[in-house]
Amino acid sequence: MRILGIESSCDETGVAIYDGERGLLSHALHSQVDTHAVYGGVVPELASRDHIRRLAPLTGQALAEAGLERADLDGIAYTRGPGLMGALLAGSAFARSLAWSLDIPALGVHHMEAHLLAPMLEDNPPAFPFVALLVSGGHTMLVLVAGLGRYRLLGQSLDDAAGEAFDKTAKLLELPYPGGPALEKLAAEGDPGRFRFPRPMTDRPGLDFSFSGLKTHTLNTVHEHRGDPTARADIARAFQDAVVDTMAIKCRRALEQTGVGRLVVAGGVGANQALRNRLREVAEKRDATVHYPRLALCTDNGAMVAYLGHCRLAAGQRGDLSFDVTARWGLEELTDPGRPDAA
Ligand code: KG4
Ligand code: ZN
Repeated sequence: MRILGIESSCDETGVAIYDGERGLLSHALHSQVDTHAVYGGVVPELASRDHIRRLAPLTGQALAEAGLERADLDGIAYTRGPGLMGALLAGSAFARSLAWSLDIPALGVHHMEAHLLAPMLEDNPPAFPFVALLVSGGHTMLVLVAGLGRYRLLGQSLDDAAGEAFDKTAKLLELPYPGGPALEKLAAEGDPGRFRFPRPMTDRPGLDFSFSGLKTHTLNTVHEHRGDPTARADIARAFQDAVVDTMAIKCRRALEQTGVGRLVVAGGVGANQALRNRLREVAEKRDATVHYPRLALCTDNGAMVAYLGHCRLAAGQRGDLSFDVTARWGLEELTDPGRPDAA
């Protein structure tokens, strides 16, 4: 089956084609960074309008790169949620209409499930079961993945998501949007020995996260060192080290508790090199393997949606004709289309 995948949940329009036999054939992306940068964050209405403008040309580009015509497609998958309602509606209306006109099935898929399975698009994909650390702008979760649609939440953030913490801290440090990559760059210039920030919730058992205390600690440190030009980079470094350390501790615990030897890291914050290097060390020490998508497939993209759509459509899952979307959608509500009753 050849599946067109459409991602439009936030500030990136992604369109890709996945072929069940040949793998990923093409993926096209438009990032709205320039549109939102002047406002210091994503403006939902501008995001929706830009998705509408980009969806058709990006679809043409993905088809051309794959050397295919629309008639060669066997199905369309789109992000149904979670995400910004208007942005999701732009993608779902486009995907559903195109599928209807081609008389092929369309399926709305879960954005975080797509992130979770993105490492399957790489060489040496992880076998089930694996532990996944999902770290994006809206979510921070540790999930035990037994198979497609079989997810057990091991822990999650009780307040800010990891990406949100990066973005808010970046703002404090007067860095431009998007904050995560800018903060990583500044942290690289920082002195790791100058400040030591707390590692939240690592002194008690459990796999939940909390980043709001760390944010306050960072805010106070910024205020205390106003006027010191070198402090910004040192603060960025201390913040990143604290987040990376916290995640490393929780991932090690999750591997220990589950006895699983494979760790997957996905979502936008998974693009952070310090986090990738640190988790590689954690895995090596435990004789476990760690699997990342390439950087372009860590942040939002259409390839992960096309891949997930293929898994579900090839297993026979079908949606109705409505193009409803949802801002909130729990990962644990999902099922395996081959065994819908399996937990
Ligand atoms: O998965 P994603 O592209 O979109 C969502 O589904 O939210 O994740 C975006 C988040 C943003 O908060 C962004 O600042 C963060 O991922 N991010 C990073 C890096 N690249 C993106 N955070 C830290 N270091 C990075 N290199
Ligand atoms: Zn995402």
